[in-house]
Amino acid sequence: MDAPPATAVAWSTDGVTFEYRSPLDLGLRLGDYVTLGDGSTPMLAQLLSQRSAERDGRLWAEGSGRVLGPSSSSAPFDRVPMAAADAEVVRRSLDRGRTGIELGTLRGLPELPAVIDARGFNRHTFLCGQSGSGKTYALGGLLEQLILRTRLPLLVLDPNGDHVNLGRARDDLDEDVAARYVAAAGDVRVLRADPPAGTDPLRIRLKELATSGVAALLQLDPIVDRREYNALIHGLDEIGPAGFASIEEAFEAFRASGDAVLESIRMRAENLGVDRMAAWAALSGRPIRTIIDIWRHDRPRALVADTSGFEERRERIAVTITVLEQLWAERRARRPLLLVVDEAHDVCPAEPADPLQRLAVELFTRIAGEGRKYGIHLLLASQRPDKLPDNVLTQCDNLLLMRVNSAADRASLATRFAFVPSELVELSGTFGLGETLRAGRIAPHPQLARTGPRVTPEGGADIPTDWAG
Ligand SMILES: Nc1ncnc2c1ncn2[C@@H]1O[C@H](COP(=O)(O)OP(=O)(O)OP(=O)(O)O)[C@@H](O)[C@H]1O
Ligand SMILES: [Mg+2]
Repeated sequence: MDAPPATAVAWSTDGVTFEYRSPLDLGLRLGDYVTLGDGSTPMLAQLLSQRSAERDGRLWAEGSGRVLGPSSSSAPFDRVPMAAADAEVVRRSLDRGRTGIELGTLRGLPELPAVIDARGFNRHTFLCGQSGSGKTYALGGLLEQLILRTRLPLLVLDPNGDHVNLGRARDDLDEDVAARYVAAAGDVRVLRADPPAGTDPLRIRLKELATSGVAALLQLDPIVDRREYNALIHGLDEIGPAGFASIEEAFEAFRASGDAVLESIRMRAENLGVDRMAAWAALSGRPIRTIIDIWRHDRPRALVADTSGFEERRERIAVTITVLEQLWAERRARRPLLLVVDEAHDVCPAEPADPLQRLAVELFTRIAGEGRKYGIHLLLASQRPDKLPDNVLTQCDNLLLMRVNSAADRASLATRFAFVPSELVELSGTFGLGETLRAGRIAPHPQLARTGPRVTPEGGADIPTDWAG
């Protein structure tokens, strides 16, 4: 006699988490949505762990999961039928109302938009994936949706010029979609080191960098170089609120002061080439507005600071420090914003190598720890968790995870983001291009999804591989 057909069943001791057993050939995978029960309103649930087992001559998938809704009764249940959830049930159960933003589609249910909760960006977010996993592409898509669907101001530090097209729609887009986007993104500003004529350049002022920033650039130690450091404090204090229009002007004043210590600071700056950095606001016949002036006074919908045109990393870090210092200085205004940093390890490395990097890490750590209560939210993108300081990473309550090949990196992520089921973090080793896991405040249950097409043209395209032909 044939064995009875095997069915999938689930049982629970608390009505919230459950265990299950499913015939392997049913094809239910880790992370899938399932329905539990056979009544008219089955519960929607998700499989969060899975292993295979052989029992009674059959192969099974076994593991545990969590009930997602409609509303869990918290009553234990005994061996209810379990089945793959169809799109309609998932759509009804996961509708997140007005604060939801659509980012691509759900894994295995390409007809359903993957909706995340925009309110979750009131926490810090880490976007992680190895080179080529699609982080920057996905980040661009997220910024587009935040512009379209929220009023959260965005300040983007963009070291590769990948986000310079955030203000315009792709040419091949449907006219209505393009018009809607352009209307929402009308006030997106892009600042570059070397901008096209008639647009503001990306510049900072000595005073905005603050004493600690200038001292770090000049490699001045407050103890070892106490005379110079102290003279710098007073020298900068005497500058009016607008600061010098140019670094040359500042150092000319130091020279003219006749003060030997100020003169030695000037020489130090000249020797280190600090005075020749392109990031300084310089005199040019018309007053130069710095990134801080523009952010503070124009209040753009989004401001992209493309630092790719600066030759040296210290210029990118100086711009970053200026932004962090000034956001912190005006924190009591409690103006919420999302500070987006692509290639975050470039300006916030786990192992800072010089005083300037150490200062940047200090400022990021302060904002990671205390920025949230002032509305300063971080979104940091990097290839590996260990490239960023632990004190910054562990303050992130949201994880956007793309492909990660290294088992050690996945283990490190699972430890640091313990709110994400570790088997789902492990799954990122199998992700293809654009596949992603979202977890934390933005996705109350871990969401497996695929990035959707972009509205705006990509900035820095990959190198074509026509050499292979
Ligand atoms: N969802 C997607 N659909 C189509 N193409 C994509 C998608 N995601 C990424 N790409 C393409 O894949 C390439 C790599 O993506 P991307 O630059 O976003 O990777 P990355 O993770 O930011 O890499 P890196 O860490 O080196 O900056 C790009 O050419 C991009 O256009
Ligand atoms: Mg990138």
